[in-house]
Amino acid sequence: MIKNEIIATIGEFVRANIGSHDGGHDWWHVNRVRNLALYICSIEGKGDLLTVEISALLHDIGDKKFRKQGEDDHLVRISHLLESLHLERQLIEEVIFINSNISFSKGERPAVVSHEFMAVQDADRIDAIGAIGVARAFNYGGYKNNTLYDPEGIQPSTVAHFYDKLLKLKDLMNTDAGRKLAEERHNYLESFLREFYYEWKFGDRSEL
Ligand code: ADP
Ligand code: NI
Repeated sequence: MIKNEIIATIGEFVRANIGSHDGGHDWWHVNRVRNLALYICSIEGKGDLLTVEISALLHDIGDKKFRKQGEDDHLVRISHLLESLHLERQLIEEVIFINSNISFSKGERPAVVSHEFMAVQDADRIDAIGAIGVARAFNYGGYKNNTLYDPEGIQPSTVAHFYDKLLKLKDLMNTDAGRKLAEERHNYLESFLREFYYEWKFGDRSEL
């Protein structure tokens, strides 16, 4: 099978399996992560581009935020799909490893990871910051029915998520290419927050 057919078949599998994800984890997120990961891998000049592309396409399949009870066979389904495309065992194992470990967002990660893992994880994190990151965060907050911002810090809010996670991502980058993109997008998060607080406080009479 030629590469374009392999990628098209995997793309169809992803579209068919991403139904209940919110708008920030839809096919377009997957597509952006694919493009970012391929860019990072080619700038770094390390790692196999086909492994990166397939891993990026499949990185959110089985995400536990969207998994229904009993739906825990996603790794088996990914393996079967890739075997049916006659891909090498080593590539299949790497794709499964990336899917299983990419989401360690608090900074812990397996001690030894590949260049492919680093490119895809950086790409996924870069898509969580910048203007797209802001849009995705408020979309996810809406999906969870969280408030936008709680000045008292009691309710779960989307602005709180910026501090819990999004503002930390630039320091968790694995690659130089990823770090460069993350710094620009981090600056945008900071200016967004400055503007947000400025508008929030405008003419505030809530104490009266
Ligand atoms: P990962 O894919 O590394 O596990 P998450 O799924 O936690 O990371 O985050 C993916 C996206 O969902 C990000 O854009 C993030 O901002 C958003 N998100 C996750 N949790 C929240 C939350 N509590 N409030 C707002 N957005 C969130
Ligand atoms: Ni993702």
